Amino acid sequence: MISKRTQEIKPFIAMDVLEKAHSMERAGIHIIHLEIGEPDFDTPACIKEAAIRALRAGYTHYTHSLGLMELREAICKHYNKRYGVEIHPDQVIVTSGTSPAMFMLFAALLDPGGKVIISDPHYACYPNFIRFAGGEPVTIPVFEADGFQYRPEIIRESVDQKTKAIFINSPSNPTGNLLSHERMKAIAELSPYIVSDEIYHGLVYEGEEHSILEYTDRAFVLNGFSKVYAMTGWRLGYLIAPTPFVRAIQKVQQNFFISANAMVQWAGIAALEEASEDVARMRATYDKRRRFMIKRLREIGFGITVEPTGAFYVLGNAKRFSEDSYRLAFDILENAHVGVTPGIDFGANAEGYLRFSYANTLENIAEGLDRIERYLTQH
Ligand SMILES: Cc1ncc(COP(=O)(O)O)c(C=O)c1O
Repeated sequence: MISKRTQEIKPFIAMDVLEKAHSMERAGIHIIHLEIGEPDFDTPACIKEAAIRALRAGYTHYTHSLGLMELREAICKHYNKRYGVEIHPDQVIVTSGTSPAMFMLFAALLDPGGKVIISDPHYACYPNFIRFAGGEPVTIPVFEADGFQYRPEIIRESVDQKTKAIFINSPSNPTGNLLSHERMKAIAELSPYIVSDEIYHGLVYEGEEHSILEYTDRAFVLNGFSKVYAMTGWRLGYLIAPTPFVRAIQKVQQNFFISANAMVQWAGIAALEEASEDVARMRATYDKRRRFMIKRLREIGFGITVEPTGAFYVLGNAKRFSEDSYRLAFDILENAHVGVTPGIDFGANAEGYLRFSYANTLENIAEGLDRIERYLTQH
């Protein structure tokens, strides 16, 4: 009855943990959430005001399928200022979040059997997008000792005639680590195209993030407003594509999504042009939490070889507690009343790890980690 294509989609375990946590909360149990990949901050006021102004001004209709020209220009300006790269507004496709941008990108790039190289561990949804578009995800292990960065020489061995792209994500979900300048440069030379998910750009606490466009034009950039501007519920993202692909992607947008929300696109312009102080404030707060979380996780006994310096995640090695991350995460939820995400959600190579999110207050993080410590030392 149900199509093979949808049967093959794996559940997102982080959501399963969250849903179980919610059912426990409904039963009156107090849960601390360290499983969620979503900013706990409210969207900055200047962004909300821009959306309200846009609504009042009557921006309640479809926009151009590629997005408002004003927003596409603001995105080009942002990439130019931040990374020194020149992109044209006609290469920018504004979408209702990074997720639809990914859907459209793979729809335009992949024929059946087309391969996309992804790291293991990776953001849980990547293989599902690739398979749904008829492609084949090829996983490459990345290791704790390297700070979970790709080794370009392993990628090189896996590239063949069917390889359409290498997928990179720096800073990364679930590891919180960045790809170094040297490795990005080496990877940019390895494949017909690079797909770079830059959604955690702007949330970097040490070192510097680089856009793939600094290294090659044979690249697709995925980006969005959800994380850095605390705008998950607004649904706004974009894709920067090489010019020959734009018309194909535009046709997908026109048919399947028509355009992104009009008033939300005006909010996106305010985010890029007016919210830098808010972002700096949120970043400083995340950084305090990051330092605290790394220290406490190490005290409890989780292995962190290379300290994560971006996004809002720590991937801790939990093998001294259990080899079965799924069981361990649910044991912690049921007994310590703390939500954490099992490593297995992000690929076989992250089995034995747990992902902790610091998108929560310092008080909650402290209490959550105390609870985990008490539970693990009693068992
Ligand atoms: C690496 C990565 N890419 C994309 C997304 C999806 O973001 P959006 O809210 O823009 O669809 C997420 C959300 O968790 C993510 O972690």
